[in-house]
Amino acid sequence: MTLESTISALLARQKPGFSLDQAFYRDDDIYRLDLEEFWYRDWLFAGHDCEIAQPGSFFTVQVGDYSVIVVRGRDGVIRAFHNVCRHRGSRICLTEKGRASRLVCPYHQWTFDLDGQLLFARQMGEEFDPAPYGLKPVACEAAAGYIWISLASAPADFAPQRRRLETYFGAHNLKDAKVAFESTIIENGNWKLVWENNRECYHCAANHPDLCKTYPEAPSVTGVDGAERDPEIAAHWAACEDRGLASRFDMESDGQSRAVRVPLLRGAESYTMTGRRAVGRKLSDGFPGEEGIGALLLFHYPTTWNHVLIDHAISFRVLPISATQTQVTTKWLVHKDAVEGVDYDLEKLTEVWIHTNDEDRRIVEDNARGIASPAYQPGPYSEIHEGGVMQFVEWYCETLKRRLGPESQARIAAE
Ligand code: FES
Ligand SMILES: [Fe+2]
Repeated sequence: MTLESTISALLARQKPGFSLDQAFYRDDDIYRLDLEEFWYRDWLFAGHDCEIAQPGSFFTVQVGDYSVIVVRGRDGVIRAFHNVCRHRGSRICLTEKGRASRLVCPYHQWTFDLDGQLLFARQMGEEFDPAPYGLKPVACEAAAGYIWISLASAPADFAPQRRRLETYFGAHNLKDAKVAFESTIIENGNWKLVWENNRECYHCAANHPDLCKTYPEAPSVTGVDGAERDPEIAAHWAACEDRGLASRFDMESDGQSRAVRVPLLRGAESYTMTGRRAVGRKLSDGFPGEEGIGALLLFHYPTTWNHVLIDHAISFRVLPISATQTQVTTKWLVHKDAVEGVDYDLEKLTEVWIHTNDEDRRIVEDNARGIASPAYQPGPYSEIHEGGVMQFVEWYCETLKRRLGPESQARIAAE
């Protein structure tokens, strides 16, 4: 039996409204397939414009087997390249972040310009033509302060995601923010378990005492259904849209991405222990009005979910490490001129989500350990609270079926 037919059989067996078969959370072959069919094909959130504000600033990102350099050129343009030397393949940038006028391979010092061209290869002989040996480019787009990469040779159209980001995030001017703090944690669970946990707040009351001071556990907030029938959310949308802030529920037709602005509990403006702002100045100088606007939420499978508030924004980047390990990086963005100790206290700014991330890590790991037992069998999601999880699982299964090609689809239909 081929891997494809095994997967087809598993997908055909998948009961709507139930969690996935154990293999989807544990199996190394399915992990490789996830890399090929999702992580090496989709647009992935890599980082923020403001992290590489200067020409020559770069960061690197590891996606499965690929290492990618994201660098700002002397012309201000952000580009991405495979972090693989065109001489004998050494990794070029060895650090996660840095700044350089040229990219120099540490092995034999082949030297590449910031636009990827090979500028200099020492002692290769007079006949050597450097032109064909530039760094291999990776598709890269920047929109509303977010940098995206795609490892696909023919990436999907980025226009719908650009439109959503610019429409919803534009007023927050995240291009001119700065990262006040970032944290990276490893969760011992498959990347889909990290997402399933993110897409519901059924677990919040019992696990997130700090977050629950400000973030509503209502399924209309975290899920994908019912927001328009919730009078408090409808009133919030109307008030925000009167200020020119796009707020209504906006979902991509294939379910990969969604934006919505939601009210927080008791008029809270920020994810702090009191609900009051953590940063004394707004994220954007041009932001309309002084009132709080709750939280702007955006997810884009498989790499990112986000919360944008009036005083700061929090981005989350998910990257798979193995079938049973996932890296989650969280960044807190504030106005570029906000001064720590004057405009904000770092502990007050970060404590709620540092605690929440650690609580989520623990419950994802407990979930993964339970699923590892032969006694595990897929269980039913709550129709009331876990609509968002069902939507994620459906997106995953449907996308995988589609991408496995017509032969697999025919086989699934016949089974
Ligand atoms: S491998 Fe990079 S210069 Fe030789
Ligand atoms: Fe959580």
